[in-house]
Amino acid sequence: MTLFEDPAQDLALAPGAMLLGRFAETADSALLAALGRIIAAAPIRHMMTPNGGQMSVGMTNCGAAGWVSDRTGYRYDGRDPETGRPWPAMPQSFADLATRAAAAAGFAGFVPDACLINRYTAATRLSLHQDRNERDLGAPIVSVSLGLPAVFLWGGLRRAQRPRRVRLVHGDVVVWGGPARMTFHGIDPLRAADHALTGPLRYNLTFRRAL
Ligand code: SIN
Ligand code: FE2
Repeated sequence: MTLFEDPAQDLALAPGAMLLGRFAETADSALLAALGRIIAAAPIRHMMTPNGGQMSVGMTNCGAAGWVSDRTGYRYDGRDPETGRPWPAMPQSFADLATRAAAAAGFAGFVPDACLINRYTAATRLSLHQDRNERDLGAPIVSVSLGLPAVFLWGGLRRAQRPRRVRLVHGDVVVWGGPARMTFHGIDPLRAADHALTGPLRYNLTFRRAL
């Protein structure tokens, strides 16, 4: 069943996991302007998976560490392998939003050092996975949705658990940590549409404490 809750409402997904309805909406123009500068310096690319496929989600990073996938596996790297340069610095507007959202969900003192930027176009999906490459699993994940809506798959601590389907709209923020930190999650194939601010795209900013 797809749940179409009032998107401005908060929703507790599990102990340690919360959807903050439209929490980022008032910051959206600052976030998108900063995002444009990051993408100009570190372009969106389709990374290679360890088994040789190409990810359908386009990605880049900002912050001290960036999440990277290639033939050797997944890792955090201080440099963009495409340019050899450090990833663009994390804008203050990004870090502030992540800290405020984490606190609102019960995780005070979260200071991200990594932000993975995911870009989805029509039909792009992200299969169920855990975020498990971070050194400090005591810190939560803060995930910000911008642009087109998507169906978030919220599973359990085991891959086999059937995921709940939660609609995410522009400005929604999902925070998961503590007992929910290793929850399997993903994104259903994106439906083609047109968003006033991002056109045919959905962006997701995922803030982590990686180092
Ligand atoms: C992710 O799991 O890295 C991204 C989730 C999303 O796009 O909302
Ligand atoms: Fe993830």
